[in-house]
Amino acid sequence: MTTNESEPAGHVEQDSTTQPAADALLEVASIRAGYGPVPVLHDVSLRVGRGEVVVLLGANGAGKTTTLRALCGVVRSSGSVRFDGEELVGQSTRTIARRGIAMVPQGRGTFKDLSVLENLAAGAFLRRSRSEVAQDIAFWLETFPRLGERRQQKAGTLSGGEQQMLAIARAMMSRPRLLLLDEPSLGLAPRIVQDLFRMLGKINREQETSMLVVEQSAELALAIADRGYVLESGNTVLSGTAAELQDHDGVRQAYLGV
Ligand SMILES: Nc1ncnc2c1ncn2[C@@H]1O[C@H](COP(=O)(O)OP(=O)(O)OP(=O)(O)O)[C@@H](O)[C@H]1O
Ligand SMILES: [Mg+2]
Repeated sequence: MTTNESEPAGHVEQDSTTQPAADALLEVASIRAGYGPVPVLHDVSLRVGRGEVVVLLGANGAGKTTTLRALCGVVRSSGSVRFDGEELVGQSTRTIARRGIAMVPQGRGTFKDLSVLENLAAGAFLRRSRSEVAQDIAFWLETFPRLGERRQQKAGTLSGGEQQMLAIARAMMSRPRLLLLDEPSLGLAPRIVQDLFRMLGKINREQETSMLVVEQSAELALAIADRGYVLESGNTVLSGTAAELQDHDGVRQAYLGV
């Protein structure tokens, strides 16, 4: 487990379990971002390896959503965000989406007045091949049978769990290499959350989609994650493997309730 240099001494434990950076799909180095003159992110550094699931933990207001927004270009940032070797800082949201990053925003972000099918088609807005898009729509309706049964229903009338599945399927319609998920479990019953994480694990394995997941349900998120980071007041202060974070006293007290 490693801690950021800005962290007070005494909290620092070093080891070498993290993989070499050369393999990284996403490499975020000391990004800063904010809203107008208000700084929110001061020094956020993290890495997502190819095929990895990485969880980002942090208290309310720590800057988790802002971090994801910075990565997909919705919020301007400085520093460096390298994705598959290319610099993304300063690029438009469209360019970033084309490079292969898709976001499932906090609060789900489906188009409430559009049907399930229309939402899935909207997720493919950057793609040209209609036949491939149609195949993918069929695939996701099979993968999430509840959506299949409700293909003509408006997204706004789906249950919370169904809307979250739709938001994920819609993001997957762009065939992203990296999926950013902002609190996918929010407002869902524990059983639904379990199913959801099982599905995310399956998507990660079968579609080889790397994931960066912001979560309050730290226990379930860490169960499918390879590694994780803790964000405090706009700084990444701790990183480690999922097992290291599960065993870390501070993480246990703050995020695992034990
Ligand atoms: N659009 C905005 N304009 C101004 N300040 C904002 C805006 N969005 C977020 N902030 C501020 O940025 C800080 C970080 O917010 P952010 O949403 O990134 O936190 P978070 O870690 O995702 O929190 P939560 O767990 O509550 O979702 C907060 O102090 C918040 O008030
Ligand atoms: Mg948030």
